Amino acid sequence: MTCAFPLWLKIAGDGYPRGVTAVNTISLGLPAVRQTPEADPSRPADPRLVDTFGRVATDLRISLTDRCNLRCTYCMPAEGLEWMPREEQLTDAELLRLIGIAVGRLGIRELRFTGGEPLLRKGLEELVAASAALEPRPDISLTTNGIGLARRAAALTAAGVNRLNVSLDTLRPERFASITRRDRISDVLDGLAAARAAGLDPVKINSVLLRGVNDDEATDLLAFAVEHGYELRFIEQMPLDAQHGWERSEMVTAGEIMERLATRFTLTPDGEARGGAPAERFLVDGGPARVGVIASVTRPFCGACDRTRLTSDGQVRTCLFARSETDLRALLRGSASDEEIADVWRTAMWGKLAGHGIDDPGFLQPDRPMSAIGG
Ligand code: 5AD
Ligand code: SF4
Repeated sequence: MTCAFPLWLKIAGDGYPRGVTAVNTISLGLPAVRQTPEADPSRPADPRLVDTFGRVATDLRISLTDRCNLRCTYCMPAEGLEWMPREEQLTDAELLRLIGIAVGRLGIRELRFTGGEPLLRKGLEELVAASAALEPRPDISLTTNGIGLARRAAALTAAGVNRLNVSLDTLRPERFASITRRDRISDVLDGLAAARAAGLDPVKINSVLLRGVNDDEATDLLAFAVEHGYELRFIEQMPLDAQHGWERSEMVTAGEIMERLATRFTLTPDGEARGGAPAERFLVDGGPARVGVIASVTRPFCGACDRTRLTSDGQVRTCLFARSETDLRALLRGSASDEEIADVWRTAMWGKLAGHGIDDPGFLQPDRPMSAIGG
């Protein structure tokens, strides 16, 4: 890889937990390389998060914790991962300072809180409320597995959550228990209903289809979503599992998903501009119901990407698949000013690569698994 700027490289590992030792190689959940990019004189004096390909990041995805109360087989091993020690995580005050910088100085207009499981983060409602009080008021969304959502959907909505995505890969209780290794489908269904009752609109469902596991449920999942007024999105499985077990040939492609859906529904492109949205959206049987397909692997949308990411330990990632990170936590815990932090963030994004390259022969999976980056 060639970089647009000289790097000060620091090999991760110092001060970080050792990885899980298991039969398979389990990712340590740690970045391979942390970098503090030096300012590049060719970067324009634009206050926003621009990159060398003309993209502008306006959507900030924040992983609030790497912990989760499910153990989806395509995400982590049954025993879980070695969670990040609390002191490594940003405090609420540190996180809110970064969110304030992002909204106030860097042009971030959308915030999405993710995990691990973001509902496990204590004080989530307060974080949301403080974010919603910023000017200009960012759009706030949450990606959750739905466990515990039923009793919190109303409070989260009152705090300022605008939209919600709930993960649900199957409608069958036994299958749910075997995919997530927890017998909790009713919690998720109750959570979905509570989100809708709280007035969140749209309530989206994220489904990952796994070959031979739940790929026969594509049409049932869509029928369920249409019946209950949820917007379903299928996501192609990406190589982000801690176990590094992803196989390109095993992945259920967007093309296959469309074929399966077409056996029961008529799908027509919804005709709306996609912008930076990853989902291609279709009207179901003429609408108004819609379904989305996120073809991250087979039809990547990196050219329109408008995202920047922050991990729960304060590292900026330019992409889910980035192989390096920029450490904002050290700046926060040092004496850096807001503008200095903003400028390091700008420099990090200026170095964003054109695409993730999953389909390239030399593709390397990032060291941090999905559960420690956020969806
Ligand atoms: N590929 C695609 N989607 C994934 N998710 C978790 N791991 C993967 C993966 N490897 C989904 C979850 C959740 C969202 C955060 O991302 O199911 O809906
Ligand atoms: Fe938890 Fe999401 Fe991973 Fe499932 S996919 S184990 S819900 S972080």
